[in-house]
Amino acid sequence: MELCVHVSGLRKSYGQVHAVDGISFDIEYGKVFGFLGPNGAGKTTTIRVLTTLVHPTSGIVKIFGKDIVKHSREIKKRMGVVLQEPSFEANVTVDRALELYGLMWRMPGEKRRDRARELMEKFDLVSFSNMKNDELSIGQRRRVQVAREFMHDMDLMFLDEPTVGLDPAARRTLLDYVKKYVQSGLTVFFTTHIMEEAEYLCDEIAIINKGKITATDTPDGLKQRYGGVKTVEIKLKDSTTQSVMHIIRQIADGSVIETPAQDTIRIGSAEAQEMLVKIIEYLSKNGVQIESISINPPTLEEVFLTVIGGGGSGNEGRA
Ligand SMILES: Nc1ncnc2c1ncn2[C@@H]1O[C@H](COP(=O)(O)OP(=O)(O)O)[C@@H](O)[C@H]1O
Ligand SMILES: [Mg+2]
Repeated sequence: MELCVHVSGLRKSYGQVHAVDGISFDIEYGKVFGFLGPNGAGKTTTIRVLTTLVHPTSGIVKIFGKDIVKHSREIKKRMGVVLQEPSFEANVTVDRALELYGLMWRMPGEKRRDRARELMEKFDLVSFSNMKNDELSIGQRRRVQVAREFMHDMDLMFLDEPTVGLDPAARRTLLDYVKKYVQSGLTVFFTTHIMEEAEYLCDEIAIINKGKITATDTPDGLKQRYGGVKTVEIKLKDSTTQSVMHIIRQIADGSVIETPAQDTIRIGSAEAQEMLVKIIEYLSKNGVQIESISINPPTLEEVFLTVIGGGGSGNEGRA
């Protein structure tokens, strides 16, 4: 089966800086692949290499089954890129911006106008089509920037932290526009440092840190693999935690224990179930009544922090 993207042992160094330090991953057609990592992780460098803006130092990159160094022109025609740094032409109106992109891709006149009209509607740009770029909000500009990329037919789109600078509502809206296209078969390579976004949009997530991929999986798979730690919360009825804390500490030895309220104990543990059984046994034996109990799986953010922190035992007190 042909893969949309195949990357094997990719390195990109700038002098002593190994921006991308031997990464490998595959992306199937029609999937959204998320690159999740902190600043300086190597996300943009990877996009630069995959979109043929810079040459790899070493390694193999195949897109649409073809080597990107040998077939860059052919590959470029079938992909779109929205770079991190916006390139806004202050004086250009929204409809003109789409028109210019159509011209750039040498689209015939009628097709160009039809497509522009369609995108204006799809991205809700109609009401400000005559406004100039510098009169728009950051969110609106981003939308134009993404929309204009769709002026040409493509099979693969790269989005480099497209939601930076947007408020949560505008972020969600932008991701929803992308989702519409994904449903019609587009393959997307998306970078972000925001876990919720990766979770919302991606079929598969690679966590990248210091030029290396530390984990690749589905959002659920990541949670299962790295989410051993669960948070147990016990709220007592008509008692404070004070009288039982010394025993709880013994039962939950080695775990992170907090008391967010006078009657509430919160424990982060990899053996949450077993621990909870022991605690309940002890409490009922001693006549301490329980108001409520909850066990919560980790958020993707907690997974991310665990993996970034080197994996294993690290639960930095965020129970
Ligand atoms: N053109 C360049 N010259 C030198 N160092 C670079 C260049 N581009 C990126 N880097 C370095 O490579 C590392 C990864 O950068 P980048 O890919 O931009 O990370 P991210 O997009 O994940 O924030 C950083 O340490 C950055 O300073
Ligand atoms: Mg970047």
